Amino acid sequence: MTMEGRARPERAWWKEAIVYQIYPRSFFDVSGDGVGDLAGIIAKLDYLQALGVDAVWLSPIYRSPGADNGYDVSDYREIDPQFGTMADFERLVREADARGIRLVLDLVVNHTSDEHPWFYASRQGIVPYRDFYIWRPGKNGGLPNRWRSVFGGPAWTYVPERDAYYLHLFSPKQPDLNWDLPAVRQEVYRLMRFWLEKGVAGFRMDVINAIGKPELDDEADAVGFERVINHPKAFRFLEEMYEAVLKGADLLTVGETPGVTPEHAWRYAALGRGPLGMIFPFEHMTVDVGATKWEPAPFDVVRWKRVLFRWQTKLEGRAWPALYLGNHDQPRPVSRFGDDGEYRVAAAKLLAALLLLQKGTPFVYQGEEIGMTNVRFPSIDDYRDIETLNFYREGRERGVAEERLMAAIHRMSRDNARTPMQWSAGKNAGFTSGTPWIRVNPNYREINVEAAWADPDSVLHFYRALIALRKRVPALVYGRLVPLCPDDPAVIAFLREDEAGPWLVALNLSPAPTTWALPRPIAGRPMVRVLDNRHRPPAYWDPATPIPAAWGDKEAAAFAGVGGGEAAGGPETGAPGERPSERGGHGVGPSTFAGEGRRDAPVGAAGPDGKQTAADVRRGSWEVERPEAFRLGPFEARVYRMAPSGHRRRRPGEGDG
Ligand code: GLC
Repeated sequence: MTMEGRARPERAWWKEAIVYQIYPRSFFDVSGDGVGDLAGIIAKLDYLQALGVDAVWLSPIYRSPGADNGYDVSDYREIDPQFGTMADFERLVREADARGIRLVLDLVVNHTSDEHPWFYASRQGIVPYRDFYIWRPGKNGGLPNRWRSVFGGPAWTYVPERDAYYLHLFSPKQPDLNWDLPAVRQEVYRLMRFWLEKGVAGFRMDVINAIGKPELDDEADAVGFERVINHPKAFRFLEEMYEAVLKGADLLTVGETPGVTPEHAWRYAALGRGPLGMIFPFEHMTVDVGATKWEPAPFDVVRWKRVLFRWQTKLEGRAWPALYLGNHDQPRPVSRFGDDGEYRVAAAKLLAALLLLQKGTPFVYQGEEIGMTNVRFPSIDDYRDIETLNFYREGRERGVAEERLMAAIHRMSRDNARTPMQWSAGKNAGFTSGTPWIRVNPNYREINVEAAWADPDSVLHFYRALIALRKRVPALVYGRLVPLCPDDPAVIAFLREDEAGPWLVALNLSPAPTTWALPRPIAGRPMVRVLDNRHRPPAYWDPATPIPAAWGDKEAAAFAGVGGGEAAGGPETGAPGERPSERGGHGVGPSTFAGEGRRDAPVGAAGPDGKQTAADVRRGSWEVERPEAFRLGPFEARVYRMAPSGHRRRRPGEGDG
C-alpha cells in the first residue's frame, strides 16, 4: 500500500519537524558580554543537528531596549547589537540551512516598544503615525477604563503631549499597535516579507489573538488582555495576513494564543484552510494554578490528561496540534509536572516521551533535552523578569510576606526557564566567559550538555532516540492518538495508530509504582517494547539500528528500512516516485522520513553511543510480549510497537506465511 489514498492529513515538513526554541540571551555567549548571541547559536548548530532538530524558533533578536527581553521591539529590521549584526544573522541562516535546520522568527506585532520611531511620532501626533497606536482621552478625570496590564498596574499610560492615554496590554514600554488602521497592517506584512526574503521558514506569532481590539468602553475591572483575546477581528486580520504574505509559501506558522479552546484551533488553524498552521494551546498550562498564575493549585494527573486528550481528539482531522510543555514563559516542565529530585532523569525522559509521541509538532525548549530544572534564587535581586519583579513589588506594597512571594516566584517565575543553558561543569556552566546577565542554576555541575553527551543513559540521548524513532515511524507523526484509561490516577497511556498497526505509550506520572491493567482491546495482544526510560535507548538515529516488530522479521525489516525493505519501496518509505530532497528537504519533497538519511547519518563528534550496534540493543526486552497488565515503577515510561490486528505471531519453524 502507498501513502496515496490514505485518510491522513496532507504531509508537510513542519508537521514532521522537531522545533527547538532558543531564547538567545540565555543560549550561548561567544562575545563574552554575558548575553547569548547569534555567533553562539551558530557555534551550537552541530549540537542541534545531532539532537535531530529540524527547525529553530528564535525568541526576538530585533533591536530592543529590553524591557521585556526583546518582546518590546524598537526596530523590526535590525538585529539588536547585543546579539550581533545582520551579517551574523545571514550567516546563521546559511549555516543552519547547511545542516537542514530552518529558522523561525518570533513575530512580535501586537505591540512595539515605546522607543520605536512609530511611537515617538505617534505621541507627537505626527501623520501618518498619529493613529498607529490606541489613544483615548481620559474619562471622568481618570483612565479610559479600568483594565489592568498583564504585568501589573493599569493598562493605560498618560502622555501630556497628546493629553491622552495609550493602551498597553503589557508594560507601559509595550504600547499596543492599532490594527484597525490599514497602514499598520501593511507595515507588518512588509516586515514579514523582509525576513522571508532573508530565508526564514516561518513565524511564531506573539500574542497574536490579541491584535483585534473590541470597543474600549468596557466597564470591567479586569486584566485587559483577557477582555481582548479572540475577538473576531483578530481572525479577520490573520486571514488578511494570510492572503497578503503567507499564501502559497511553505512556512511554519504558529500563533501564541492564550485562552484558546480547541474550537478556536478549528478556525485559526483549520487544516488546509486556516490562516495559521498551528496555535499554541494554554489550557494544559493552567491545571496547576488558581485565579492567577502565582496561586498554586495541586497538580492533578487526571485533570491534565483530560485536557491533553481533549485537545488531541478535538483537533483530529480538523487542526494540526502544536505540542509543548515548557517555553521561556513557563517554569521547567520536569520541576512542574515531574520530579526534579530523586526521579529527575526518569521524569524528564517520561515528559520527553509525552511531548514527542503525541500527535502534533513538538516544540522543545532549550535545556529540556538535558532535564534542566527550576531555580530557587535566594533573593529578588537575582531575578530579572519584568513580570516577576512587578509581582514582587506589588506584593510587598500590599504587605504580603516575603517568604510567600518568594515561594510563588520559585514555583512560577519565568526566570526559571531563562537561566543560562548549561553546557558544561565549567565556569558559568560554559555559557559565557563574562558575567552572565542572570545567574546560572547552581545545579549545572551535575546537569549539563557535556555530561549528558558522555552518558549513554542521559536524558539527552533519550531525546535523540525518541526524535529519531519519530522520524522513522509515520504512525508517530500522522497516526491518530487514541486515549486510554482516562481515569487512571497516575498513568497516561495512549495509542498512536495508522494502518501499519498501533503503537502504545504508557507513562507512570507518579513517584509511586503502579499496576496498569491494559484495557480490553489491547490486553494480551502481541507487542514489543521499543523504548523505555530505564534501559539504554537504542540508537535509532543510526539507520543500522532496526526498529523491532511484534511480528515476522521480514515485515520488520521492510518497516525499519533495512534488509531490502527500503530499496523495494517498502510500505512506509513514502509514495512511489517521492524522492527525498538532496539538501535537507528544503522546498522539495515535504517528507523527512527514514530512507532519506538526512538525520540518521552520524554527525559531529560521535558520542559514546556512536559505536552502538544493533546487537547492543537486542536486549531481552525485544521479546514479543502479550501483557495483560504492566507494573510500572516511579516515572517509568514505555513505548511498545504492537502487531497490526490480523498479524499472528510467527512461531519457530513456521514460514513467513
Ligand atoms: C508573549 C511572550 C512573552 C511576552 C509577552 C508580551 O506572551 O511569550 O514573553 O512577555 O508576549 O510580548
